[in-house]
Amino acid sequence: MDFRIQVAEPKDLRQAEADALLLVVGEGCTPASLGKALGGALEQALQDGDLAYKAGRTLYLHGVAGVKAARVVFAAAAAPAPKAFRAALVAGLGLLKGGGARQVLVASALPQPLAEAHAQLLPAAVAEALYVYRHTKPSAPADSKLQRVSLACSVAEAAAARAGLQRGEAIAAGVALARECANRPGNHCTPSFLADEARRLGKQHGVDVQVLGRKEAEKLGMGCFLAVAQASAQPPKFIVLQYHGAAKSVAPVVLVGKGITFDTGGISLKPAAEMDEMKFDMGGAASVLGTFRAVAQLKPKLNLVGLIPSCENMPGGAALKPGDVVTSLSGQTVEILNTDAEGRLILCDALTYAERFKPAAVVDIATLTGACVIALGHHRSGMFSADDALAAELEQAGQAALDPCWRMPLDEEYDEALKSNFADMANVGPRAGGAITAAMFLKRYTAKYPWAHLDIAGSAWKSGAAKGATGRPVPLLTQFVLGRVR
Ligand code: BES
Ligand code: MN
Ligand code: ZN
Repeated sequence: MDFRIQVAEPKDLRQAEADALLLVVGEGCTPASLGKALGGALEQALQDGDLAYKAGRTLYLHGVAGVKAARVVFAAAAAPAPKAFRAALVAGLGLLKGGGARQVLVASALPQPLAEAHAQLLPAAVAEALYVYRHTKPSAPADSKLQRVSLACSVAEAAAARAGLQRGEAIAAGVALARECANRPGNHCTPSFLADEARRLGKQHGVDVQVLGRKEAEKLGMGCFLAVAQASAQPPKFIVLQYHGAAKSVAPVVLVGKGITFDTGGISLKPAAEMDEMKFDMGGAASVLGTFRAVAQLKPKLNLVGLIPSCENMPGGAALKPGDVVTSLSGQTVEILNTDAEGRLILCDALTYAERFKPAAVVDIATLTGACVIALGHHRSGMFSADDALAAELEQAGQAALDPCWRMPLDEEYDEALKSNFADMANVGPRAGGAITAAMFLKRYTAKYPWAHLDIAGSAWKSGAAKGATGRPVPLLTQFVLGRVR
């Protein structure tokens, strides 16, 4: 998709060379400023009850007299905030994507000036409206004919709009990569596939990529990671990505992504219903790859490390069993009480591995617990951090990128739940507070640096008719990382 800025005042829109005009309208918008042709059409539609300034309302008009573009779409934003702007764009694009338009000019007729934040959302909205999964579905609908999306703005707004568009394009590319990886079925998206994707990203975008196999992980002593991988026919991969945008002396941010390419639960086998969705259990890994994709395009002056422990969680004759005790890379031992609590096992070794980078901050991202879905549903990711400043950064980044998270507690009292008679800790506590005890488990491996954990079990994918990966939290992570440029 080709994104551009087009300097054009509202009154110029009827003359604009485009196949379609997409006008975001809402409360306080003065039809008169749109000129006679467009303003008249808008006023009439409102009067006739064919359009209202309510979320999701749209109107498609073809061949409006006095307007050069063949198609005009009015999309209502329920509020001036970027969130409503994005929703209006997605709804409006929905009316255009299947038609003949190749070039669309998007304009805001809202009374507020167009901000960088609005421009940043445009590529995301376009991607959301147009994405089609087709890798294993030859019968998927044909790609949209849309090729170019221009954003109309005034001279005064142009610089901010351009910057926002650039950032938004990079984030959208990152989201697209994350979605595509996560949507691939488990027999396609294996640990080796993720390693190859990382290598491809490295080659195309100048990121250093190193992949450790079983042997190297054994030599290092990643006993927890390897314990999860031990019954799978797919070789485990521990992927290390490094983006260098600042001097070597600048401490990096480290992102750690859970890369379980399929989670059967292991010997503590999951029930059959919806088990297919456990192909999305590498959503954390996908979000790390997606964030690297975005960062590599924007080239900010900072250092970033990505760590992806990746394997399958399978039952079998060689599988890890309840009661087994394994030794983590940190030297701490873990009694396995439930083999389905595998995410924390692969993450704890990655969190210890992260120490060697002397990080400024470490953020892990994982589809970690069903309990987090119960707590927060599908809108906000769970966020855990003992570091108030880091927590605030993530909270704000999520808010700004419209990819929100919600801070959850980490009181010492929750740690009790992990006591074991046979090892330094158990890998699960009781059902109550399951998302928190999972985070408390990880916390035991993060004493050496500021750390935060994002539980994306509810936000990384959608179930039901709209089943598919969301690409979250790539927008949050990219916004967070960019905010760290000093
Ligand atoms: N990948 C799952 C978490 C999950 C489950 C995400 C359902 C989204 C929907 C994770 O590995 C898991 O199985 N967690 C267990 C932990 C429990 C055994 C303590 C869970 O949440 O049930
Ligand atoms: Mn599991
Ligand atoms: Zn899992």
